[in-house]
Amino acid sequence: MADAAYQKCINPACGSEFDCGQAMFKCPACGELLDVCYNWDSMNVPGKLSEFAKRWGTRDNKLDFSGVWRFRELLSFCKDRHKVSIGEGQTILQQNDAVAEYVDMGSGRLYLQYEGLNPSGSFKDNGMTAAFSHARMVGATSSACASTGNTSASVALYAHSCGVKCTVFIGSGRIAFGKLSQAMDYGAQTIQILGDFDDCMRQVQDVCTKLGLYLLNSLNPFRLEGQKTIMYRIIEGLGWEVPDWIVVPGGNLGNSSAFGKAFGELKQLGLIDRIPRMAIINATGAETLTDLVNNKKLCWNDGKVDQSIIDDYYADLTARNFSPHTCASAIEISRPVNLKKCLRAIDICDGVVRAVPDEEIVDAKAIIGKYGLGCEPASAATIAGLKRLRAEGLIASDERVACVLTGHLLKDPDVTVNYHKDKQGRFSNPPIEAPNNLDEILKLIE
Ligand code: F0G
Repeated sequence: MADAAYQKCINPACGSEFDCGQAMFKCPACGELLDVCYNWDSMNVPGKLSEFAKRWGTRDNKLDFSGVWRFRELLSFCKDRHKVSIGEGQTILQQNDAVAEYVDMGSGRLYLQYEGLNPSGSFKDNGMTAAFSHARMVGATSSACASTGNTSASVALYAHSCGVKCTVFIGSGRIAFGKLSQAMDYGAQTIQILGDFDDCMRQVQDVCTKLGLYLLNSLNPFRLEGQKTIMYRIIEGLGWEVPDWIVVPGGNLGNSSAFGKAFGELKQLGLIDRIPRMAIINATGAETLTDLVNNKKLCWNDGKVDQSIIDDYYADLTARNFSPHTCASAIEISRPVNLKKCLRAIDICDGVVRAVPDEEIVDAKAIIGKYGLGCEPASAATIAGLKRLRAEGLIASDERVACVLTGHLLKDPDVTVNYHKDKQGRFSNPPIEAPNNLDEILKLIE
């Protein structure tokens, strides 16, 4: 394929290639996932990652201001005139010793990457800026997504900003109110399906195929290109050094897939000298990946993934009428669409997978809230998972770890308020009831 960027089926037995002018979410030849690939020689990639830092000086240029597009040579699939940006990716990497102490890491070793600081309050904006740029490139006018909440919020925001219509599918009763309020306020057509996220995901694919809508879930390979930049910013936050571990929550497995691809490419380009290990953390009520990898020994196997293991597992879920349940509603997913790409990322990053129960997630969330910038439950799974991996001794206390905090605290106020007000959690901080009387109030102040 002569173009600088092209799409390619991830199944090595197929390997079909397509130009980027087509919007597809599965390989038309074999039905597998697609990657965006590059002929790097024609891409003008800087010789050193640190050269990207020069763009801090030219931030009046909209693309240099974007925390995604200032790395544009590493995701160069469309012309500048198609690029959509609303200032995404202005996120920070914060070293946090108090949270480090909670997970038994040494001081100076734990970093939190706050993706909740994005315009719609989650990491999704990194992906949507890229996906909507591609949507404009192919002339899409209507779009759709299934969502546990954050994707719908981000889609609604970007769709509105670039004049594309959007319909979002959510599972009835499965979405945190912060996120639902965003989708409605930003003007998305919101369809609430009597089912869970996996049901929505199935429906939206059929709807997009039948009506020719542009799909914005992480099946969309262009979206994942944007999400690679979260890793570039972590490396940037570490003075262009690579951490020892990346810890990320696992839901539909788009992030973990994108991160593995990012590190594979940086290594191939000689821009990093080693690849960090990756820990992907499920919630125990939605632990398909953990089960498949740790118990059923499913692996990438050079692209020859044993499909029968996946088919048997899903058949069993169907037979049991299984629907996932966790307070971390963002990752309440039992049929992750990026499973195979994630297996590849585990292979690239020598990854591990763990599942953590809701009680550990909400405790970790309270600690991040108390000592950090706060986050939603799914994001806190990273800290709960890291605590376990430290207890197992798999991660050493002096290794340098970066946890991706994927969504803002205010996304899910219900989980937070319930944790604190019922004094049920280890770190609950309930409000104290006081009479409307100054003397009595003064007695209560510590
Ligand atoms: N954290 C948050 C806050 C999320 O919203 C999601 C996914 C994840 C983690 C999981 O990321 O899918 O890349 O493994 N939310 C999707 C949504 C599914 O619809 O908003 P993943």
